[in-house]
Amino acid sequence: MPAIAVVGAQFGDEGKGKVSHYLAQRAHMVVRTQGGNNAGHTVVVGGKIFRVHIVPSGVLYPQCKSVIGNGVVVDPKVLLEEIDYLGSEGIDTSRLILSDRAHLIMPYHRLLDGLDEDRRGLRRIGTTRRGIGPAYMDKNARLGIRVADLLDPEGLRNLIDENVALKNDLLQKVYGQEPLSAPEIYEEYLGYAERLRPYVADTARLVNDAIDAGERVLFEGAQGSLLDVDHGTYPYVTSSHPIAGGVTIGSGVGPTKIDKVVGVLKAYTSRVGDGPFPTELLNEQGDAIRERGKEYGTTTGRPRRIGWVDGVLLGYAARINGMTHLAINSVDVLAGFETIKIAVAYELDGRRIEDPPANLRDFGRCKPIYEEMEGWGELGTPAHRNEIPRALEAYVQRIEEITHAKAAVISVGRDQGETIYVEELFTEANV
Ligand code: IMP
Ligand code: MG
Repeated sequence: MPAIAVVGAQFGDEGKGKVSHYLAQRAHMVVRTQGGNNAGHTVVVGGKIFRVHIVPSGVLYPQCKSVIGNGVVVDPKVLLEEIDYLGSEGIDTSRLILSDRAHLIMPYHRLLDGLDEDRRGLRRIGTTRRGIGPAYMDKNARLGIRVADLLDPEGLRNLIDENVALKNDLLQKVYGQEPLSAPEIYEEYLGYAERLRPYVADTARLVNDAIDAGERVLFEGAQGSLLDVDHGTYPYVTSSHPIAGGVTIGSGVGPTKIDKVVGVLKAYTSRVGDGPFPTELLNEQGDAIRERGKEYGTTTGRPRRIGWVDGVLLGYAARINGMTHLAINSVDVLAGFETIKIAVAYELDGRRIEDPPANLRDFGRCKPIYEEMEGWGELGTPAHRNEIPRALEAYVQRIEEITHAKAAVISVGRDQGETIYVEELFTEANV
């Protein structure tokens, strides 16, 4: 029953794409379970860069089925653009499967995402403005429109009429905007329906069948644990569940069927968007890491905020995910630094604390208590863990202690070849 969940251990952009893509080589199925096109996965294959936002990375491999699970919110326009982009790069997308229960991002979701951010002003979340939050709001308000509705023209018309009437009230009365046209949106979405129809299926059935048949199934996370709507730095979070628990809900697979949870982290931290970040480096060191690590958003192009690894948050993330393994990325970005810091606790109003506080104002006052470690020099391309510099080995061991999880992957560069696979995660399948 080899099923693995790959999750972000920080604030997203940990390099999950690279790890997922590596694991996808041996997977029969890759499944996305939450988020939408707020995600941006950069995958480098043989020097060629692929950027995907919604299609799972399994699509790059001919043996692999790619599933967009029920927990994902799907902007059909963006999905079709991505299918076309991949097609033009010679990638076969016929093995893509879209859940009939996934919710749709509608034009008013995109609009309201931006309007709500502007209304918040200085207290904005710093969202990607892709309509993700408003789409999840409608899902939970039981107003959402799902892929299954898209394939039912009659039902779709009614749902769009009802939703647009409500949204127009909001747009006009609260935000002073022009109303939207329900018939125009209906026509647009009917067009998407025709193109998406061949991809649609009951994906929970397919994923469970694959696992039961002993196939290797990879759940590919998006965003990061600290952006989880329940466990992250609320309200500076995304509206879904990027943690391992979200995988079960977002795919319709029970928790007993997931064997391993791999937490992906970088040897530093980045955060795009607003919210607390105790280890943030607002100095040249942070700037240097941003440039060397090319830390600009895949989705929005925004410069990412940079800081040291926060062991308090990492330990917390390991716990809420039940992480069994780690993938430690971007250690090359820190090569040449004399010393490397890891926060191991916070000081809050003169007290030492070892867990992140729920209250955001408390969180904002937390000062990291650092442990300093010796830096490492140039790395070359070590093939095995026993070939890495002693200082890096000490660092990896410290991260393993903090998370109680085992480093399975250490990444020393962007390309797929620049990676040490300490442990094979997909053990033999039954097929
Ligand atoms: P939303 O997901 O667009 O609603 O944005 C909410 C927060 O999550 C913002 O801080 C975003 O910058 C952040 N976020 C959303 N998706 C990603 C991602 O894929 N990587 C990193 N941050 C993300
Ligand atoms: Mg990203």
